[in-house]
Parts: sequence; structure tokens; C-alpha cells
Amino acid sequence: MCLKEKLNGYFEWFHRNPELAYEEYATTAKIKEILTDEGIRIFPCHLETGVVAVIEGGKEGPVQALRCDIDGLPIQEETGLDYASVQTGRMHACGHDFHIVSGIGCGILLNERKNELAGTVKIIFQPAEESSLGALKVLETDVMEDVAQIWGIHADPTNEPGVVGIREGCVAAAVDRFVLTVKGIGCHGAHPDDGIDPIPATAAIVQGFQTVVARNINAFHPALISVTRIEAGNTWNVIPERAVMEGTVRTMDRKDRILIERRMKEIAENTARAYGAEAELEWTAGPPAVYNDGKMVQKSVRTAKVCGLLTVPEERSMGGDDFAFYEERIPGCYIKIGTGKGQLIHQPGFMVDKNVIFPTAEYLSRLFL
Ligand code: NI
Repeated sequence: MCLKEKLNGYFEWFHRNPELAYEEYATTAKIKEILTDEGIRIFPCHLETGVVAVIEGGKEGPVQALRCDIDGLPIQEETGLDYASVQTGRMHACGHDFHIVSGIGCGILLNERKNELAGTVKIIFQPAEESSLGALKVLETDVMEDVAQIWGIHADPTNEPGVVGIREGCVAAAVDRFVLTVKGIGCHGAHPDDGIDPIPATAAIVQGFQTVVARNINAFHPALISVTRIEAGNTWNVIPERAVMEGTVRTMDRKDRILIERRMKEIAENTARAYGAEAELEWTAGPPAVYNDGKMVQKSVRTAKVCGLLTVPEERSMGGDDFAFYEERIPGCYIKIGTGKGQLIHQPGFMVDKNVIFPTAEYLSRLFL
């Protein structure tokens, strides 16, 4: 069987058997089995799920890495494919199955041409990207210690096969989460004067938050604040003691990220105070922005040309990727691979055109050769 058919077969297996973040046991076992069958060395490190392949070249050179995330999503698949997910409510709806086989294919091609390879390539089959913290599991091990630069790919259903999106600079946002608690004094709904109603204060805070991006951030900088959940009270005639809201902040500039947190805290605390209430903002920092290194971008464009792929400016996203955690240490480049236009990622009808797999594996291997 030729490599193309083999990779397509592997892809169907991974697509059929999606597993959620931190639960990728069967996926990990299958990747290990394939790597072993192909004579590719597995890097000895402890990962509960996920695995790292190593290909040592015949020539001197740097250690580079390729990140392929491996987890699926809690979505019921509606593609109608004959190799659709067999797990109820689980689906590879972000193309990580495609990332896995592209990484495997790249590993096989590099292994065949080891003698021409200068340096070492580590292919990181990373768990739990969807949790946005899976990269930290890899970073807890010594896998990245000698790595000089890292490459990453993502399926892109807004582009046709044969088209790759590449852009220098920020391509995905820093992802932060906040929970805000507004504390008032509960009382009878008929006697608001007996208490402090946290609901109007909360409403005013939401409005205030929406002025931060519009009034405090440079208009050329992408940034957003989304309040995604508000909860207060449990019946019609009682004013609750507290209200809670939750949401996310997305930025691409490090200073904006700090500024927004500070402004939100000021607005929340001072607005609450104006209503006689108290506010407490709890901030959970996720991955920083994904930043594509200039030299690596140039190389990825040149290599795409050699491979006969068309390059377009990469669409920037206010979504995030924990790939950025690696880039806190070393330069990286995150490339979007057109997988055929259709439903977007994280949707039940999302599909990857299988014809993209082999060319992607070849493209990735050429980045290292
Ligand atoms: Ni993804």
C-alpha cells in the first residue's frame, strides 16, 4: 500500500475514535503502535496521554519540533461520513485527527530520508489542546529542553485543499477567563429599599466593560471582552444577595492584556461601589497570543512554493491555541492548511478533505529537510 492510502486509512481510524481532552488513551496507543510499526523512535518521557516521536538526522543541525494536537470535542457528529465517529457525543470536529496523521506522515517521510536530515525532529502528539492547557503537560517534561523552534498546523475549512494560510506576527489571541461576583444585600422584591440589589450594578458593569475596548485600546489592536454568563437569584419576588458573571477576554498585544484586566477591575469595583455593592474579579490567564516568527514564516512560504501549494495571508482569529505556551520559550510558526470549504471547526458537519493529508505530510517533512 502506498503511503497516501495508508495515511487515509489511519485518518479514518482516528476520525472514528475521537476522545476528549486528557482522555486520549486509545488515540495514544494507536499512535504508538503506528510509530513502532514504522520503526520510528518514541521519545522517553512521561505523558499520561500523548506521545512524542523523534527522528534523528544523519547530519548536524538544530532540534526542531512539530506540534500535532490529538483531542476531539463533545459534539454529536452529523457528517454522514461512512467513517463517522462511533462514540456518541464525541467528534473530531477541530481536525485534530488530520493533525495526527499529518504528523505521522511527516515522521514516516523524515524517517525514510533520515540521512538528508540535518538535526533532530521531535513530533509532539499533544493532548488536551481543547482545554487550552494541554501544552503545559508537555512542557512539564524535558521534551522541549533542547528544541530551538516549533512548527504547528491547523485545519482550515475556509480554504480549499492546496491552499495554505501563513502570516507573520499574531495569528491567534491570548485567551483569558474571568468570573465576577457582585455582592449586595438580599431582601423582599417588594422592598428593594431594605437591601442592595446586585442586579442593576451587574448590568451597569456589563455596559462599562464594553467601553474598555472602544475607549482604552488602540483602534488598530484587535481585542474583545465577551460576557457569556450572568446568574442571579432563583425566584420572582426575592432580590438576591449576589450576582455572578463569567466571560472571556481576547487580546493580541501583551500590554493590552494587562490594561484590560486592570480596567475591568476598576470598572467592576467602582461601579459596584456606586450602587452600594461590592465586586470581586477573579482572573484566570490562559495561553498568550500565537505569534509567527518572521524567518520561519519566510521558510514556510518558500517550502509551500516548492511543494506546489498556494499561499494566502493567514486569517487571524480571536480564538486561541495553547501552541502559544511553547512560544513563550522558543520561536514558532502556526500554519493553516486548507481542508476544503464547508462547515467551520467545532460544528457537527465539519469535514476534512482526505486528499489534503498526504500533501500536508509532505509539506511538513520538507520544512525540516
Ligand atoms: Ni483545533
